[in-house]
Parts: sequence; C-alpha cells; structure tokens
Amino acid sequence: MKIFAHRGDSWFYPKNTILAFEKALSLPIYGIELDIHKSKDNQLVVIHDETINRTFKGKGFVKDYTLKELQSFKCKKLLFKNNKYCKIPSLEEVFNLIKDKNIILNIEVKPDSISYKLEEDLINLIKKYKLENKILISSFNYKCLRKFQNIEPNLKYGALYSHKSDYTPEINIVEHAKKLNVSSIHISKRLLRKNIIDLAHDNNLEIFVYTVNTPLSVLKMIKYNVDGVFTDCQSLIYNILNKN
Ligand code: G3P
Ligand code: CA
Repeated sequence: MKIFAHRGDSWFYPKNTILAFEKALSLPIYGIELDIHKSKDNQLVVIHDETINRTFKGKGFVKDYTLKELQSFKCKKLLFKNNKYCKIPSLEEVFNLIKDKNIILNIEVKPDSISYKLEEDLINLIKKYKLENKILISSFNYKCLRKFQNIEPNLKYGALYSHKSDYTPEINIVEHAKKLNVSSIHISKRLLRKNIIDLAHDNNLEIFVYTVNTPLSVLKMIKYNVDGVFTDCQSLIYNILNKN
C-alpha cells in the first residue's frame, strides 16, 4: 500500500510547511500530498485554504498578498510560531526539497471559489525542475484537470471525489474518472465501497483513499486492497503494516 504524507507529517508538525515535509521525508513514504494556491505576485504557494486565517496569524485571501507578505505571517501553532521552516512555502521551495528524493509529489490544485489560471505556471515550473516523473496533479475541479491535460497530456492526473460532492457511489465514479482520462481516483473514505475498488482495478485505475488516520480504517484499507492512502500520521500506518 502506497503511503502519501497528507500535507506532510501533519499529525505532529504544522501542515503544508517545509518542516512537515522534511519530517515526512525521514519516513519511508511513497509520496507527499500538498495543496496550492496563487499569490498576488503570481507565485504558486503551498497552503490548504484560500484564506490564511485558519493556520497563520493573519487575515484575508492568499491571492491578495505577495509571496513575501505571505511568508511574514507566523504559524498559529504556538510551539512553531518562530520556526523559520513553518511559514507558507512557495511550491518552488518544495520542489527544491524533493527534487533529488525518490518520492512522488501529489499537488492538489484548489481553485475553489477563485479562478487562478495557474495551469500553465504549474506545468512550466514542473518542467523547469524536470520533475515530470515525480508529479501527480489532482483536483476536485474537473474543468481544471482538463485544462492541465490540454497543456500537458503526459503528466499523471488524479480525480478527487468527496462525500460532500455530487459524486455518490450511485453515480458511477469509475466511469466518470475514465472519461476524465486520469490514472487514479482519490476518494474520501466515507464514499469508498468495495465495488468501486474492484471496478477501478478492472479499468487500470489506482484508488487512493483520504484521510486514513485511525488503526481501524488502516486495517480496512489493507483488507480492501486499495492502492494507497493519504494519512496525516505516517508512523501509525507503518506500525500497523509491520504487525500485519
Ligand atoms: O488529496 C486528498 C485530500 O487532501 C483532499 O481533501 O480537504 O484534505 O485537501 P483536503
Ligand atoms: Ca489536499
């Protein structure tokens, strides 16, 4: 089972920071998952929400600040507020961190309410760093996935499905993903059913499940034979895998 460090080693360290990614890299993970947005000065930056309020001591939208301004905000977690590796990273900083490592970087593109037009920028950055073989781009925004594929069809893409979205098991997720021409289905554990996994495998699609953070759900994923999981707590998974 492939283990993706969801937002880095985010159980113990501030999510989507260089510190969390460095800590994750010290474990035998398959990949790191992170989320990106775009700054006022058109830099791709790594943060989950489109606003900074929840995780950093500041207010407002990522798109309204320059990278320099974004990096001046301190992390909300008291223990890490003065840690220089716990700022909002640029995607380029993460590329520098992983470029010589043997891992996959899953970049979740989050154009939620904002349309960033970041597709060309991201593809160009991936090419500049020659990371084509290490990148997996995913999104809940299927129009955005199509735009990426039009620009660069030779990268790997994954379609995200949430229990909150319109896609329920009754609407055939596998058929939908096939039409999107992605290589993997990234699915909420609350939406997952055994028949989706079997059908995905019959159609050469990988199934990656998020977010798997409890021993029971890890055991279920092993039993279900999913291809991979996104977890905040990678050490938990390794403990269970070693015992089974
Ligand atoms: O990519 C899997 C997962 O991260 C999607 O949901 O909200 O944690 O970004 P979220
Ligand atoms: Ca994510």
